[in-house]
Amino acid sequence: MGILVLTEPAPADDYADAVRKMAGDIPVWTSGDHPEATRVEAILAWRLKPGILPAYPNLRVLSGIGAGVDGLLHVPDLPEHVVVTRVVDPAQAVEIAQYVVAGVLHFTRDIGEYVRQQAESRWRRLPVRGASRCRVGILGVGRVGQAIANAFLPLGYPVTGWSRSSRPASNIEVVSGAGALLGFLACTDILVCALPLTQETHGLLNRARLAVLPQGAIVVNVGRGGHLVEADLRELLDSGHLGGAVLDVFANEPPPRDNWVWQHQKVLATPHIASSPARQLVAEQCVDALVRARRGLAQPNAVDRALGY
Ligand code: GLV
Repeated sequence: MGILVLTEPAPADDYADAVRKMAGDIPVWTSGDHPEATRVEAILAWRLKPGILPAYPNLRVLSGIGAGVDGLLHVPDLPEHVVVTRVVDPAQAVEIAQYVVAGVLHFTRDIGEYVRQQAESRWRRLPVRGASRCRVGILGVGRVGQAIANAFLPLGYPVTGWSRSSRPASNIEVVSGAGALLGFLACTDILVCALPLTQETHGLLNRARLAVLPQGAIVVNVGRGGHLVEADLRELLDSGHLGGAVLDVFANEPPPRDNWVWQHQKVLATPHIASSPARQLVAEQCVDALVRARRGLAQPNAVDRALGY
């Protein structure tokens, strides 16, 4: 009985090697090994298609390779008894926060514009958009949202958070619930999406909500592409209502070459690199989840399937 690594498009062989280092005498396979389906007790994956899981009758654990497990929870044939786990990596939250600060400064300190000016050997000073005049609003105040707040606070940015359900954060004021969202957006100059993707948050950042942001606001998405209606964002960037967007995640990854995000002057687009959990930690937590399942122990990284995180 062992672990099947199905992490594609992330490199399955690399993940399998990392898991083998932690797995002792537990066999670890990739799909190319064609293990007997009855021997598969755990699967490590990023995204799954319907039709895969029912082939493994003795599956106990489905471990994700990321903090978000939306790519696993969406399959309709996920058996009820299977424990789904995500990765918890404190360093990942800090790296995401670094990315968000870099992306925001790209716009508020006009770094993109200065790169263009440098290409033309042009010396032109632009007014600084002061931190105290940029209210940062973070959607999602879990580990990642709180790390993002911790990165902005010492730089002088006012920071507040919004959570879907009532959830306090140790470092910032948080408003919660659908009823508080529009008021929150109306007071947010820098909107950072750090939510898990669930049925409730899918398409949350649509035209109606983005239009409530103040003129010149900047949108940063480090959640999932599914949170944002990209066509609505484009409309509001083009109309001049929004000042810029920092996008690390997309509805389709990678976005097609002719997708507007690649060329848009007001978009900083990156290939889902804000941060991934360390592979060694992914492997360690996957093996730990299987060992715990075998012994009937509590699963500290199990997700609540009803909540989606
Ligand atoms: C990255 O997107 C993750 O879910 O860890």
